[in-house]
Amino acid sequence: MQIECKPLFEDTRFPQLITPKSGQGDSAALADWAGAEPAQLRALLLEHGALLFRGFGIHNPDALEAFNVAAGFGHLPYVRGVSPRHLVKGHVYTATDLKNIYPIPLHNEMSYTRTFPDAISFACSEPPKSGGETPLADMSLVLERIPEAIRSEFKDKQILYVQDVPEKVTRLVPKSWPQMFDTTDRAVVDAACEKQGIEATWKADGGVRLKSVCPAIVNHPKTKRPLWFNQAHVYHPSFAEELWRIGLRGMAIGAAALEFAARRFPDAGLYPHRTCFGDGSTICRRTMHIIRDAIWQETRQFSWQRGDMLLIDNLQLAHGRTPFRGRRSVLASLLVEPN
Ligand SMILES: [Fe+2]
Repeated sequence: MQIECKPLFEDTRFPQLITPKSGQGDSAALADWAGAEPAQLRALLLEHGALLFRGFGIHNPDALEAFNVAAGFGHLPYVRGVSPRHLVKGHVYTATDLKNIYPIPLHNEMSYTRTFPDAISFACSEPPKSGGETPLADMSLVLERIPEAIRSEFKDKQILYVQDVPEKVTRLVPKSWPQMFDTTDRAVVDAACEKQGIEATWKADGGVRLKSVCPAIVNHPKTKRPLWFNQAHVYHPSFAEELWRIGLRGMAIGAAALEFAARRFPDAGLYPHRTCFGDGSTICRRTMHIIRDAIWQETRQFSWQRGDMLLIDNLQLAHGRTPFRGRRSVLASLLVEPN
């Protein structure tokens, strides 16, 4: 099978749209191509950061996994992952189970840990009636937009992620530690945390506090380009700004009220997940505003079509999800390059 490649947008290198040259493709033919041309696939992914395969009918877990395996990727289990999602089949998960009304800010997957996927493959089983895009942003360009003084401070201090994970799901935390670590055995959790350089402290209420310090900026292992690679803005108390920006005014007012309450009652546990600099000092709101603005300016999004498959380089590009109407089914696999 032969493929055709062209940019989806005029003003960015991502995603590259890949379609069957004959006009008719199928999932088996795409898996065969990926198996036959792994070097071309890697070169395209490295050059563009994201590849959108359209017209191959990748709309079920078997087809997505067949592509992943044929392309020579290994799979990373979603252990210690924050987002609510569930395993559908094999190594294929739901992209997220978060309710449709909530946006997911752009992020590099699992950049709050030392063990993150190299790439992610998504497949659309059912596009929503409206919204539900997976916005993407080029993190090397985001980094260029961030002033040197801010970059330098983040580079020196890194980022501390603090997460209070309950034993059972709560209104504020949609994922429990037994779900996060796929076990009810605390010793297994401790061992997983030690392996990832996470400090785990068990609490009297049955929950666990996870603390990890991770870099804010990393170099891509192949291109060596520096990248903004973190989730500082996702868990910063100034999240109301994110909601206001995308027009969710009611939700933004609620988030601002929560921020006010959290300042007034710092021990009430209103921010189960939070970020600060690695030395424990606060990241100021103004800094977060500049960082969010840089991400928004580099963000592009497209509407899903049934059978679309999106392969992204998890270091070069951040991804998110916009709110949506109707049913939406997008699958995801976390991929690693073999050693
Ligand atoms: Fe994600």
